[in-house]
Amino acid sequence: MKGNYDHFMQKEIHEQPESLTTTMRGRLISGDSSKAKGVLLGGLKDHLKTIRRSRRIVFIGCGTSYNAALAARPFMEELSGVPVTMEIASDLLDREGPIYREDTVVFVSQSGETADTLQALKYAKKNGALCVGITNTVGSAIARETDCGVHINAGCEIGVASTKAYTSQIVVMTMVALALGDDTISSQARREATLDGLLDLPNKVREVLKLNDELKSLAKLLMCEQSLLVFGRGCNYATALEGALKVKEVALMHSEGILAGEMKHGPLALVDETLPIIVIATHDACFRKQQSVIQQLHARKGRLIVICSKGDTSLVCTGGSCRVIEVPQVVDCLQPVINIVPLQLLAYHLTVLRGFNVDQPRNLAKSVTTQ
Ligand code: F6R
Repeated sequence: MKGNYDHFMQKEIHEQPESLTTTMRGRLISGDSSKAKGVLLGGLKDHLKTIRRSRRIVFIGCGTSYNAALAARPFMEELSGVPVTMEIASDLLDREGPIYREDTVVFVSQSGETADTLQALKYAKKNGALCVGITNTVGSAIARETDCGVHINAGCEIGVASTKAYTSQIVVMTMVALALGDDTISSQARREATLDGLLDLPNKVREVLKLNDELKSLAKLLMCEQSLLVFGRGCNYATALEGALKVKEVALMHSEGILAGEMKHGPLALVDETLPIIVIATHDACFRKQQSVIQQLHARKGRLIVICSKGDTSLVCTGGSCRVIEVPQVVDCLQPVINIVPLQLLAYHLTVLRGFNVDQPRNLAKSVTTQ
């Protein structure tokens, strides 16, 4: 089942070009030549009008599934015009937070069985909201109990650390945003760029997977560290959280994803010559701000590893030395799919080098069915 791979996590990272292709299969409506002109999501089409008229869209999930929703949030807000709020399932339940009948609540879960997410679904249903499921498991409890939804079709994920489900979840939520968005003249260029980006995404992921050896050598450098910080912002705040989650759950190394805009409000105190810091600074609307973050970290002699767009090394490495990982640039809303891959590879290699169990990290289960 693992084929030529040593571990399921490794296999699942490397099969992302194929899993993403399967996620999109039959869902991109073809237009002229080889371009797509829209998306068709069979499980949602009868509910799009209701969702567009919602007071809010509320994304609910746990762990990696929450991070995927966070990555998709800006594009969902931009295209749907509906405010999107985020809820970690357990926190919503602890607070008994407000959910209204005018809300559309989107439940994101790879397994479709996570107890907190399922409990939050019951709570949202009781409050009368329209409940949408985004799961990888046909027939799962969340798929059955939601009013409508989309399967991510990423294929069975065996490694406890979620990898290919994460990227497929982002792609599905991007397609949901496209389905919800009006086909207005003003949004046409944006829609076309995103549809083109989706079609080419598997190729771009194939390209970024070629960085495997580079990430292995970075893992050798970092394997004895106690801690690792990951700074991101915009769509890539989610990448920072998800990259740090991967490192902590499989490599058993302390790691923290930090919103770069919060740097001066505390985390800057940690910066010295020894603590490794990964900064995600690919080319998007936040790039300028990330350049300034890098300069400020350099000024504190931070030990930096920067993930940037291909060809941008000279733009990010000013004011000090740093190790750079260049990744292919894609449309901003899909960049998190590309940017997470080096961090998945880093977490994988760190785990192997540190001698821990890759597919069954201690104390964790693939499906968390108790609260
Ligand atoms: C991390 C991971 C977990 C799950 C979380 C939710 O790699 O796998 O954080 O994402 O337990 O699980 P699902 O998506 O099945 O609801």
